[in-house]
Amino acid sequence: MKIIVALTGASGQIVGIRLIEKLRAKGIEVYAIASRAAKITMKSETEYDEIHLRNIATKFYDEDEIYAPFSSGSFKHDGMAIVPCSIKTASSIAYGITDNLITRAADVTLKERRRLVIGVREAPLHEGHLSALLRLSELGAVVYPLVLSFYTKPKNIEDLVDFTVSRIMEQLGIEVDYKRWE
Ligand SMILES: Cc1cc2nc3c(=O)[nH]c(=O)nc-3n(C[C@H](O)[C@H](O)[C@H](O)COP(=O)(O)O)c2cc1C
Repeated sequence: MKIIVALTGASGQIVGIRLIEKLRAKGIEVYAIASRAAKITMKSETEYDEIHLRNIATKFYDEDEIYAPFSSGSFKHDGMAIVPCSIKTASSIAYGITDNLITRAADVTLKERRRLVIGVREAPLHEGHLSALLRLSELGAVVYPLVLSFYTKPKNIEDLVDFTVSRIMEQLGIEVDYKRWE
């Protein structure tokens, strides 16, 4: 399988990083992209940086590298996740503003009717945010807000992150073994 994972400048960088790590652990090819803002937010809230992403991903791209293979629908992949997804990037995709590699790859994923998971992170949400998210859902994207789940009785932040990552992987059509509600 080939999955595109994009990190944008919203809070929750560790969720995107863990997603790449877990996909790679399953032997899945990961094409990672980080926006300029993602690199800034990553430094402010984690111990990781772009070098770590370059090390864990199969291939890494900057947001300006619009000649990447997945800028074209002719490149076959199995889905894309934007985690964390800023309101800026979510809104751009909702209204067809394909001004960097992340928004272009997402637009191509939608037009080719492939899986697109939007791990949006903002709170609270005003009507403009909500209408952009509704539009994304209508276009076929899965809007997966990075919310906390407590019914699995998490013991630490890692448990919370891993549960969300597993659910996002499932949305990408990947078999995952995790503690489910029974
Ligand atoms: C520490 C930090 C946390 C941020 N958290 C969020 C957030 O949770 N949601 C959001 O939409 N933007 C957030 N932002 C703002 C985005 O980084 C900013 O809107 C940026 O332009 C997004 O660009 P991008 O979508 O190209 O990455 C945050 C910025 C910083 C520095």
